[in-house]
Amino acid sequence: MSHILVFDSGIGGTSVLSHLQTRVQHANFSYVMDNAYLPYGLQPQEVIKSRIKALIHWQEQCLGNVDLIIIACNTASTYALEEARKHTGLPIIGVVPAVKPAALSSRSRHIALLATPATSNNSYTHKLIADFTSGCKVETLHSTELVRIAERFYWHNALDQLALYKEIEQLHIPDSVDRLVLGCTHFPLIGEHIKTCLPPHMELVDSGEAIANRAVSLLASHETSIKKVPAKEVRFYATAPILDSKKEIALIDL
Ligand code: DGL
Repeated sequence: MSHILVFDSGIGGTSVLSHLQTRVQHANFSYVMDNAYLPYGLQPQEVIKSRIKALIHWQEQCLGNVDLIIIACNTASTYALEEARKHTGLPIIGVVPAVKPAALSSRSRHIALLATPATSNNSYTHKLIADFTSGCKVETLHSTELVRIAERFYWHNALDQLALYKEIEQLHIPDSVDRLVLGCTHFPLIGEHIKTCLPPHMELVDSGEAIANRAVSLLASHETSIKKVPAKEVRFYATAPILDSKKEIALIDL
């Protein structure tokens, strides 16, 4: 049985976790949210780097045996993936905006990236766009409000439809855009609702499925030696208390 650590600033990484649970069937998952520092999209790079370093330290000291770390956060991955790899020998998969598949499938050759302010404005993302979207015009858009809406939707099962509509409207996504990359793992949690605010020809693209496929191939050698064992429940950890949570969440200090 593999043990996979999935990390995000908040609940966004569960959009990746659900793909992982479908594809990697015999694994234990630990899901860690650094909600004391939420939203990551407004944090400076140095803060994110130090949080990732602290996460790895906590994993070694407190969580123990882990086979794979998934940084299920575009902001942390684009800011601190290299930093993370300096501090552990474990395999790490980062989640970065799916601009490549979006550009490959765009017919209008006009795509948009919707991410956090930190992800949209960093050099890693700019390089990703320069390297993988040639021949496509790319709009880079950002929103922190959508992170808030997704958190509220997850924890309180309440969608702030008006706030969502207003937020999408003020992004002024050009009509010729036919692929909208959800470059923040919070956004697929409200993807269906985002879609209702967009013209039908705009397709949403995210990285969740590709990450799960990558995890399967990385764990492949492991899995062959393992008999089918049902997956256990996910253990949740958070760095700040969550009020009214239906889940059992252990409070940790990173
Ligand atoms: N879910 C995160 C991402 O993919 C970060 C959201 C936030 O904390 O701002 O970027």
